[in-house]
Formats: sequence, C-alpha cells, structure tokens
Amino acid sequence: MISKAFILEDLKKNMTQKRFAHTLGVMETAVALAKRFGVDEEKAELAAMVHDCAKDIPEVEQLNLVREFGILLDEISMVETALVHAPLGAALAKIKYGIEDPGILRAVKVHTTGDPKMTPLDKVIFLADYIEPGRNFPGVDRLRKVAFEDLDEAVIMACDSTIKYVIEGGRLLHPRMVEARNCLLLEKLKRGEKNGEDN
Ligand SMILES: [Fe+2]
Ligand SMILES: [Fe+2]
Repeated sequence: MISKAFILEDLKKNMTQKRFAHTLGVMETAVALAKRFGVDEEKAELAAMVHDCAKDIPEVEQLNLVREFGILLDEISMVETALVHAPLGAALAKIKYGIEDPGILRAVKVHTTGDPKMTPLDKVIFLADYIEPGRNFPGVDRLRKVAFEDLDEAVIMACDSTIKYVIEGGRLLHPRMVEARNCLLLEKLKRGEKNGEDN
C-alpha cells in the first residue's frame, strides 16, 4: 500500500479545493466516530480519505473506467450517475493506491447508498460523509449529536432525509438505501428499542 501522506497529496492534486476540504472533514469525523464506537481508527481514516477519490473525475471518464475495470452498474446507477463514484472509488483505491483491505473497500463502495448489511466501518464512513464540519443543512446539528449517541439511529435518520430529498427531486431512489434503512429499523424493533408506533 502507498503511504497515507502520498495518497493525500495525490488527492489534493486531483480534487477541487472544496472536495479536498470535505475529504479532510470526513477523515476527522470518521476518526472521532471510530474512536467513540470502537471501530479501527486507522481503517476509518483511510476509508474516509479515499471515499470520494473518483468523484471529481469527469462523468464520461468515470463511465470509461467503469467499463475498463469491469464494474457492473445497476440500472439506477446508470441513470443516477452521481452514484457511480462510490464503486469506482473502491476500484481506484485498490488499483491506484494499493488498498487491499476488503472492509475499507466495502465502506467506500457503499458510502452513497448504504447497504442492507452495513458493518460498523460502513456506518462510520456513511455518517462522517453526512455530518462532517463542512456540511450545512437543516437538522445537521441534531444528526451530529445523535451520531455520537446511537450510530444506527443516525444512519436511519440520514437515510430518511436522503430518501425524502430524492423523492422531492423526482429522482430515482436506489433500493439499497431503502434496504439499509429498513434493516437497521427492523433490528431496532427486534431489540425493543422502538415500538413501531412512535416513528
Ligand atoms: Fe461520495
Ligand atoms: Fe463525500
């Protein structure tokens, strides 16, 4: 694997200033969340570092790389092309930066939609992306607070808010986000942490 310092330098060269600042924010938040919930901080920092490594690649080039790497895109990601940078980012993290850890690659791959079987690292990256200090949307402060109290609840809240946003925009909703949200909610109901009527 290439050193973290080199990866960060390379990202700085290949990202907009805004995206690089976002990346640093996600790294800081991911490490803090990892520390809070006993997740490997090194892995969280590295996953956060590379999570958007494909995002500033022009769309046409992203789709060329997808073909080149043999990444299979589902129908929705082919239309909602903003989703493509997640699986492509995971492939680039491996090919370009030599990151082999399957847990890190997985967290990068699922960071936009979530996944029905999210690992603690997946949740940390998904949420850090959502609540890093540069984010500013109604309810972000509440979500920041919940994230450090109840990781699953915060992921559910983030999914709910994204799902509403996507629907309001009349866009295609990725079923993996609905599955991610339902899975976590179902687990909460089974643990008796929710009674199914108060939400
Ligand atoms: Fe992203
Ligand atoms: Fe991001």
